[in-house]
Amino acid sequence: MEKQFPEVVMPKCPAIQLLKGQKAIVTGANSGIGKAVAIALGHAGADVVVNYLVGEDDAESVCKEIRQCGSAAMAILADVSNEQQVEDMFEQARASFGTIDILVNNAGIQRDAPFEQMTLQQWRQVIDVNLTGQFLCAREAIREFKRRGVNPEVSCSAGKIICMSSVHELVPWAGHVNYAASKGGVMLMMKSIAQEVAPYRIRVNSIGPGAIRTSINRPAWETKEAYEKLMKLVPYKRIGEPEDIARAAVWLASDEADYINGTTLFIDGGMTLYPGFTENG
Ligand code: BGC
Repeated sequence: MEKQFPEVVMPKCPAIQLLKGQKAIVTGANSGIGKAVAIALGHAGADVVVNYLVGEDDAESVCKEIRQCGSAAMAILADVSNEQQVEDMFEQARASFGTIDILVNNAGIQRDAPFEQMTLQQWRQVIDVNLTGQFLCAREAIREFKRRGVNPEVSCSAGKIICMSSVHELVPWAGHVNYAASKGGVMLMMKSIAQEVAPYRIRVNSIGPGAIRTSINRPAWETKEAYEKLMKLVPYKRIGEPEDIARAAVWLASDEADYINGTTLFIDGGMTLYPGFTENG
């Protein structure tokens, strides 16, 4: 292709900063979906806490990328399943940013095993991080949102929580019973919190990603054979990219989505459309 002259440089930061002046915490933000979400929130004008458990260098480079767009960023080490560490993280965030407007409950893990071989430790690790971790962070966020209330200069809502769920809050998943149970739990936790705090103008929703190209599911996409097999489950015939989730997270956290509360937005290329029925049933 011929080089264009003058060279066209695409803007890195969106022209409209939907989250200008807001303060966000993204858990598990040093890699994968969390990383893309943290960067997108930063580009949309939010100051961002980049939470991580391992991978300090990666968390710092996410912060660097956010700062390049003029937003503030801070990496905080905390295990989301540890009550004290979660409380300390929110305390630190409040001390630096003044408040928190957006929580993206993203940190999550898989510990897969055939059911009869699944150890109690594998069960507990997944429930601790994916479900209890989301509970602990959501509780701190709600406390802060209720304390502050609505600040109309910043947002018409007192606060927003986005829980990173999965298509597996709906779709059963053999060999991953702990994971599916944790995401099923996230679904009703999210809806119940949403029902409880809606009168305070707090919005709580989930994003349900399908197969997104991250390290959690590498074996499902890294070879041609695996990718082709995976595509049998995706009517849209491409794997999702972390940015597919990030763009939606920015919008869902913004006042553009103000009347959306207690719902899961599936971003899955149609994985939840029961593709097995396309030529069957
Ligand atoms: C899991 C991935 C999986 C995808 C679709 C996600 O929640 O973490 O490993 O590829 O669901 O099955």
